Amino acid sequence: MMFIQLTGLSGSGKSTIANGARLLLQQRGHAVEVVDGDIYRNALWPDLGFSRKDRNENIRRLGFVANRFAANGVISIMAAINPYEDVRKELRNYGDHVVTVWINCDLATLLRRDTKQLYHKALLPESHPDRINNLTGVNDPYDVPVDPDLIINTHECTEALSIELLYHFIVNRMVASQQEKVR
Ligand code: ADX
Repeated sequence: MMFIQLTGLSGSGKSTIANGARLLLQQRGHAVEVVDGDIYRNALWPDLGFSRKDRNENIRRLGFVANRFAANGVISIMAAINPYEDVRKELRNYGDHVVTVWINCDLATLLRRDTKQLYHKALLPESHPDRINNLTGVNDPYDVPVDPDLIINTHECTEALSIELLYHFIVNRMVASQQEKVR
């Protein structure tokens, strides 16, 4: 039973890495669900926005779902910005099966990638009608994760290596917890 909570800025690679690791795990017979903030938000609670209160509510709901999957034998990888340490801690309190992985990427790389054009919009002049005023890491807070179980620096690795790192981390953790059980 395993619940991996990812955290990292928009565009850092959370969904790509989560889905890449999911495929590798599924090829080896594991059941996996990626509880992706973008997908679950739009489908189930599009009314939640990006205030601190709404982000925390989003993470609590995603975390609840991810934990249900984990409780029923599905490896769940929660992919959301998950910017606040207090709520990450709340989710860790579900138990030892919850691990935190920081998908870290420097701002220069995020600005260069900017696949959703969010960074461009956050850096527009204040009076501009398209400006975004609460983009995490630019003009909204991001708590640096305290004591994460794994850090993947995506500005330094290829996509394939980042996926391998998460995949091997998950497999090693599962093996370690199986060994713990037989002891
Ligand atoms: S979280 O902060 O509540 O964890 P979540 O990961 O679910 O966020 O959703 C983030 C996604 O929402 C981003 O990848 C982006 O597509 C979109 N988004 C829209 N506005 C913002 C914003 N102001 N800050 C961050 N993400 C935003």
